[in-house]
Amino acid sequence: MTGQINRKEFLARSLAITSLGLAADSAGKALADHSDRPVRVGLIGCGNRGRGLLGTMLTISGVQVPALCDIDLDNLDAASSALTDAGRPKPESYIKGPEDFRRLLERSDLDAVIIATPWHWHTPMAVAAMEAGKYAGVEVPAAITMDECWQLVETHERTGVPCMMLENWSFRRDNLAVLNMIRKGLLGQIVHCHCAHSHDCIDHWFFSPVDGKITWGGQYLLRRNADQYPTHSLGPVLSWLNIGCGDYFDYMTSTATRSSGINAYFKRRFGADHPGARRTYAQGDIVTSVIRTRLGSTIVINYDMQLPRPYDNRWMVQGTGGIYNEQRNSVYLTGRSPAYHEWESFEPYQREYEHRWWRELRDNPPEAGHGGTDYLELSKFFDAVRSRERTPLDVYDSVAMSVIVPLSEKSIATGSSPVRFPDFTRGAWKRRGPSFAMDN
Ligand SMILES: NC(=O)c1ccc[n+]([C@@H]2O[C@H](COP(=O)([O-])OP(=O)(O)OC[C@H]3O[C@@H](n4cnc5c(N)ncnc54)[C@H](O)[C@@H]3O)[C@@H](O)[C@H]2O)c1
Repeated sequence: MTGQINRKEFLARSLAITSLGLAADSAGKALADHSDRPVRVGLIGCGNRGRGLLGTMLTISGVQVPALCDIDLDNLDAASSALTDAGRPKPESYIKGPEDFRRLLERSDLDAVIIATPWHWHTPMAVAAMEAGKYAGVEVPAAITMDECWQLVETHERTGVPCMMLENWSFRRDNLAVLNMIRKGLLGQIVHCHCAHSHDCIDHWFFSPVDGKITWGGQYLLRRNADQYPTHSLGPVLSWLNIGCGDYFDYMTSTATRSSGINAYFKRRFGADHPGARRTYAQGDIVTSVIRTRLGSTIVINYDMQLPRPYDNRWMVQGTGGIYNEQRNSVYLTGRSPAYHEWESFEPYQREYEHRWWRELRDNPPEAGHGGTDYLELSKFFDAVRSRERTPLDVYDSVAMSVIVPLSEKSIATGSSPVRFPDFTRGAWKRRGPSFAMDN
């Protein structure tokens, strides 16, 4: 979420324009010349999320999908049919194994790729996309090791090609209204945030609901004990606290509970003799991380994906002027809330501080994906691709959120010791102003 473009960024942007094959005499000219042309996108990973994103892409005008890649023929065929059923040309398929995405990236007609594969493929695919001069839109988390975080940053800086992690909750309607309220000073100076990804995924994502067979996602629960999925929690918090553009993460401690939920689930669902009921899982049921920022704010993040419960994010942001609580759908603001120390409904604030992106969608809400949030996220990503500009979330935002995975693992493994965040921006967070969702 960076603001003014400095020299290094300008060079990076010019490089991006050159590497993407556009007229490089001036960025402005290139932008003006190409503002209304179609955006051509390759989709890598046509599973559940990939096909969901594809459905959303079909509702965004000017987006073409001439190439699909997967290693699973059924998933690839289903995505291909989704395109032809919608009256689009039959896409070319890349299905010759796990490295065939590299052949897709050799195509000269693609502007961008959307990557919706298992986690360990995200960074290799995003790096290869940037190397090939294609904007990388990569699912969450963008990276799962410290080395991968640096690979993303260094590849972006060397090639100048943008990479955006597709963190949809940064674009949620309520979260953007809260961002507007914060920017207008209603909550005063922000001091503390809470966020969570409370989503029981045991019976559909991590294990087959039919026979309990472990999936690629479940494999991580066997061998890692970390906040494995921190970005949905942190997405809006990053902009609420100006992380990367005025403040930065300093250090963090993480603590995990024991692992009981998965065994209990298998016992309940498949019986005590099922191997899943007796297997040892590395992953604790709840991970609580506490981050302190350079300017002295704190953030509590909960990983909570393997105990039975309804979905929740439990966002809360607290400042010198008041508090917003997502779970209560309420605020309390000094000098504004009618009753002393009593919650009032967030609804009137949602209307008054509606972000422009959502005001524009209000009269014509799209059908697809998380109540329009995915539509907004992808359409803003493709706007950036079309105009060869920076993406709404950049590579620095992407790794700031993703690095929680390896850092929380390290803290848990060392008795909840504090772990320091590397400065992926190399000090630029002190100079940059916010740029995310500024057209409010
Ligand atoms: N942002 C969100 O709201 C959201 C929601 C769900 C999932 N996700 C993310 O989307 C990603 C995909 O999740 P999913 O639920 O669709 O999983 P999935 O298993 O349904 O789909 C993954 C697909 O990738 C394919 N694949 C695996 N290796 C490949 C390779 N080397 N080359 C090409 N294709 C390959 C698989 O065959 C499969 O079709 C995950 O990273 C997940 O974290 C994000």
